[in-house]
Amino acid sequence: LENGSLSIIVLGASGDLAKKKTFPALFNLFRQGFLQPEEVHIFGYARTKISDDDLRSRIRGYLIREKDASPKDLETVNEFLQLIKYVSGSYDSAEGFQLLDKEISENEVAKNSAEGSSRRLFYLALPPSVYPSVCKMISHYCTNKIDLSGWTRIVVEKPFGKDLESAEELSSHIGELFDESQIYRIDHYLGKELVQNLLVLRFANRLFLPLWNRDNIANVQIVFREDFGTEGRGGYFDQYGIIRDIIQNHLLQVLCLVAMEKPISLKPEHIRDEKVKVLQSVLPIKDEEVVLGQYDGYKDDPTVPDDSNTPTFATVVLRIHNERWEGVPFILKAGKALNSRKAEIRVQFKDVPGDIFKCKKQGRNEFVIRLQPSEAMYMKLMVKQPGLEMSTVQSELDLSYAQRYQGVTIPEAYERLILDTIRGDQQHFVRRDELKAAWEIFTPLLHRIDDGKLKPLPYKSGSRGPTEADELLEKSGYVQTHGY
Ligand code: BG6
Repeated sequence: LENGSLSIIVLGASGDLAKKKTFPALFNLFRQGFLQPEEVHIFGYARTKISDDDLRSRIRGYLIREKDASPKDLETVNEFLQLIKYVSGSYDSAEGFQLLDKEISENEVAKNSAEGSSRRLFYLALPPSVYPSVCKMISHYCTNKIDLSGWTRIVVEKPFGKDLESAEELSSHIGELFDESQIYRIDHYLGKELVQNLLVLRFANRLFLPLWNRDNIANVQIVFREDFGTEGRGGYFDQYGIIRDIIQNHLLQVLCLVAMEKPISLKPEHIRDEKVKVLQSVLPIKDEEVVLGQYDGYKDDPTVPDDSNTPTFATVVLRIHNERWEGVPFILKAGKALNSRKAEIRVQFKDVPGDIFKCKKQGRNEFVIRLQPSEAMYMKLMVKQPGLEMSTVQSELDLSYAQRYQGVTIPEAYERLILDTIRGDQQHFVRRDELKAAWEIFTPLLHRIDDGKLKPLPYKSGSRGPTEADELLEKSGYVQTHGY
């Protein structure tokens, strides 16, 4: 990392995201030596009037499980907490941001050697409704000043808008204040180990290169399942629904990495150029290739209206109109309150032509990449059933990370992505044109849902979701395999 002072400002410091994700990620970076106490200062900013110590004690419990912590760990927690200061102010008040700037500047002077630079990272752990005013305040009052070699960067969380129009409005607003190279749009799925592995898997293995296309692949599923409901987030969730919450961002980003062409290099812009091309090749979604669901009990949340039409489950088939993928359905499926928690990619291959073993019914080759829990990749293969008979059985080549990489800690997505923002690497962040293309795909469907033209089917909490979704899967050519 560069020299000089680094100020990390978490706006919305008393909110859920900051407590559960941002501060713990910063703590992990600190503990691994990526944030040096002589350089770094962390500021929390929010409206609530509390003291530095109040903020510290609010986040303390999220950093580490104290009952398993060693005295050394506890000492590290205390050192980290001492780096945090709190400034309170509203999200549109000049005084608040002037005060914040004063605090940051004072620390910079204290921590900055004469030739060091001033680096300011603003993390917006805030609802998007306040992005415009907060960005304006930052750009007016808080950008780095003491030298030109430093930088100011801002990190924004989804949801970036609610549809194409609102997202574009937000993008132009922020775009007038900051250059694209200063804006880091986080999609935390891009920080997951097995998502980051996709490029290596696809482009560093000769094995996959000739297979990865419409000649061999029958269908691709990208699945997100959660075994809990909206739990206290009903009010937020109801305005967005599962498509805006998971599919338009997390699953679509994964789809890009599965489907894109090989970038000409690993430069962030080259990779992002290829992702945009995939998104721009997606055909309009057809209503008959969509199944929506809403779990029973969703509307019991008092913050959810009784007549809510918001889907908590969706299966949507996307079709990519290009030479590699024409005819291959990409089935994106996400749901809350289902029977398990899992995120995975399933690439199903076509049947073997001229099946001399008559084993077609036993299943097809399938390559599964499990993003979570228990990261793994496994390939379903037909093998001879061991023994005297010549019969076939489906088995698996299995690379399970916990076994293969024993003792290796897989970093949290947020930890990795925050480090990238400090390093200035935008590869795993969503570029403005990518965001626009993603909204273009889903906006017509979302408007049909918002207008009540498409309705979610009821499903039982703790089930697989509406059975119509399984029927759509089958209609799209997915063949259930039974394995062994
Ligand atoms: C968030 C969604 O972006 O991702 C949540 O808003 C969801 O609804 C979460 O629970 C899932 O993240 P992960 O990393 O637990 O799969």
